[in-house]
Amino acid sequence: MLHRKISCAAEVLKVKDLAKVFGATKVLDGVSFTVRQGEVVSLIGSSGCGKSTALRCTNFLETPTSGQIEFLGEAISVTTDARGEPKIVNAAAVRGLRRHVGMVFQNFNLWPHRTVLGNVTEALVCVLRLSRKEAEEIALWALSKVGMETFRDRYPQQLSGGQQQRVAFARVLAMRPKLMLCDEPTSALDPELVGEVLKIIRKLAEEGATILLVTHEMRFARELSNRMLFLQRGRLEQDDTPEELFRNPASEAVKRFLSSVMPANA
Ligand SMILES: Nc1ncnc2c1ncn2[C@@H]1O[C@H](COP(=O)(O)OP(=O)(O)O)[C@@H](O)[C@H]1O
Ligand SMILES: [Mg+2]
Repeated sequence: MLHRKISCAAEVLKVKDLAKVFGATKVLDGVSFTVRQGEVVSLIGSSGCGKSTALRCTNFLETPTSGQIEFLGEAISVTTDARGEPKIVNAAAVRGLRRHVGMVFQNFNLWPHRTVLGNVTEALVCVLRLSRKEAEEIALWALSKVGMETFRDRYPQQLSGGQQQRVAFARVLAMRPKLMLCDEPTSALDPELVGEVLKIIRKLAEEGATILLVTHEMRFARELSNRMLFLQRGRLEQDDTPEELFRNPASEAVKRFLSSVMPANA
């Protein structure tokens, strides 16, 4: 087991009372949790319970209906304007947050018309305004971390899913994120390719990366996470260490979920 004691480390992300309503559906209903520096926190729960929405609200890919996201001590809250639309207070801080939060998606989301190297240098050149030479140096460093530097001139469709996802990790790493959001990074992969991506996540965790991970790889999450959050119908039912979650599920729903994804004695 790789649990690192982090209880006193700085808070990177503090999510407070996050709510998200789509039409008449309350997808997130008062979700609060904290991610500290160097922690791996896994967000688990059945399909449709709001995991992706929670991640997407965290970096404002989706505007929360209400609540507050505090990132490295800077609070960004959402209130309602006169027309009842959500309004971000301190919107300037969203840019800062996005600059330091990297996201890896289930379906890789690489640019199909760009090479591996082009995918990784893109934000370095366009967002960080680095020279092409500097960007390529950093990109090659990031690609070597995921073992993909020799594929620099290939296009995404010439790569396996596992290789594409490793490039997606390199693209995030190149930006030196303070927090990585990973939304089911192995769910779209053939079973034999899952391991190579989990290996990258494990390596990043061991190197001290701060990661909020949505996953169904329960054994992996149990082994690697400092804490696991169980989301059920938009509410956090449990926020515990993996030991505690598996030993003492907080509700029938948690128990049922764990036994459905992890057979007894696994
Ligand atoms: N853009 C959207 N518009 C309307 N409903 C949405 C939207 N995104 C997600 N939902 C709904 O919100 C619920 C939670 O979705 P999601 O966060 O993707 O769940 P999970 O990632 O846990 O499977 C689902 O019922 C889904 O249909
Ligand atoms: Mg999802």
